Amino acid sequence: MLALNPKKSKFPYLHTMQFVSVKGDSPKVNFEAAILNGFAPDGGLYVPESLPQISLETLRKWKNLSYRELVFEIVSLFISETIIPPNDLREIIKTAYDTFEKDSTIPLYPMKTRSRTYVMELFYGPTLSFKDVGLAFLVNTVNYFLQRKGERQTVVVATTGDTGPAAAYYAAGKSNLEAWTLYPKGMITPEQERQMTTLPHPNIHAVGVSGCPEGGDDLDAVIKAMYANKAFKEKLNLTSVNSINWGRIMVQTVHYFYGYLQLADEVGEPIDFCVPSGGFGNLGAGSLARLMCLPIDVLIVGNNKNACLHRIFSEGKFSKAPIYETASNAIDILIPLNFWRYLYFVTGKNPTQMKAWINTFEQTGNLQFDEATYQAYASGFLSTSINDDETLQTIKDIYEKENYLLDPHSAVAVCTANKLADKLGDKKLICLATAHPAKFPDIIKKALNTEDLPEQARHHSIELAKRRCERVYLCDHEHLEEALMHAMENVARHSQSAPH
Ligand SMILES: Cc1ncc(COP(=O)(O)O)c(C=O)c1O
Repeated sequence: MLALNPKKSKFPYLHTMQFVSVKGDSPKVNFEAAILNGFAPDGGLYVPESLPQISLETLRKWKNLSYRELVFEIVSLFISETIIPPNDLREIIKTAYDTFEKDSTIPLYPMKTRSRTYVMELFYGPTLSFKDVGLAFLVNTVNYFLQRKGERQTVVVATTGDTGPAAAYYAAGKSNLEAWTLYPKGMITPEQERQMTTLPHPNIHAVGVSGCPEGGDDLDAVIKAMYANKAFKEKLNLTSVNSINWGRIMVQTVHYFYGYLQLADEVGEPIDFCVPSGGFGNLGAGSLARLMCLPIDVLIVGNNKNACLHRIFSEGKFSKAPIYETASNAIDILIPLNFWRYLYFVTGKNPTQMKAWINTFEQTGNLQFDEATYQAYASGFLSTSINDDETLQTIKDIYEKENYLLDPHSAVAVCTANKLADKLGDKKLICLATAHPAKFPDIIKKALNTEDLPEQARHHSIELAKRRCERVYLCDHEHLEEALMHAMENVARHSQSAPH
């Protein structure tokens, strides 16, 4: 339960939610510090000291709230009024989600070919993926804190194609932020690339990195190394808005609550969710929503051929393997970092044990969980891995039968749900659609076996980006850390001397 402390304050909601590192070797901090730090100083991920427990009665009260109102209610559980006063929080939420195309923000499409199944369309933000949902809130919140402190921060982001565009969009033109987006050159679509490289704002810097043997995970490793360099981190006031940042995970819990409340006839009814997964950020948020007592029955992991999460949930094995480039490139991920957050809560919040697991994985690339741990975390999950033929076939089938176009990641989710249908029964099911098909025109053409792109695979913002010049730094992976630090220092020096 929340630690309400009305005696000490005039604020009715005041609670002192503190954040700790899953590794346990960092001081407790408040929400503001957790967000602005990104990683904890010990290199671990920040988590709240405890997860709020939401009663059925509260869920009933939330039943008719809009998405934005629900964001307010849920993030208020983690942010005290002294950290962000309610009016300011409302304003941040409004600014964040006014950037979305649809009034309803997150519509649910009822499938025609599967009964009681809904596609939750998380891609109506400006860069057409679910990353907008988290970053709209997070970047605006970071900016709010920086403006209040009168500070500038350098944000660095690694992307497999969707986080980078969203982070760049929301940071663009904000004078308290300098944003660097690193992507594995040739491993994201040209459309995703242009979303980052065609922004005209001088505080946005895209970096295409060639020769990444492990794709986006290689870039995460460089960011982690820069973080570990204390002098550099402090000099640039460095942070990350990747899903290592607690703010992302917190906001992503909201769409599970929202989807659930939209569909439940009776609050308390069990509903399943199926999620195309890579870094376990989105699904990690779903796992925490369930630990906060949202009545989710089964959480279903849709992996592509890079089946890192499928190995974790089916074999109890957290292991690295060679990376495959797939049609669902944004989930070509080998290290699902956010799994640690879920594991922390589900195994009794034991930082010593967490440190041992994380060290074993980091040193050997291979961690086999004991049976009791496996049973604890895998309960309530199903998983499978989908190959590219299955992904393309799903796009084709659903388009032909329903005139509804899935992007390759959303197709992984729908295909996963179809493959595991026998094990699910007749409950309602929500498949998360995490990107707009317009970001993947070549895959769509291949799936539909046509050169004529259907209207549903077009978007005016993608067309516009084709008519803009690109501005990008290029670098090879071998020299990335040094080259990037050099470039970042140069930019910081110039922007400090530039008139604002
Ligand atoms: C379109 C799309 N779907 C799914 C995912 C997977 O999300 P997560 O890494 O949070 O598991 C990503 C993220 O990289 C994505 O861009």
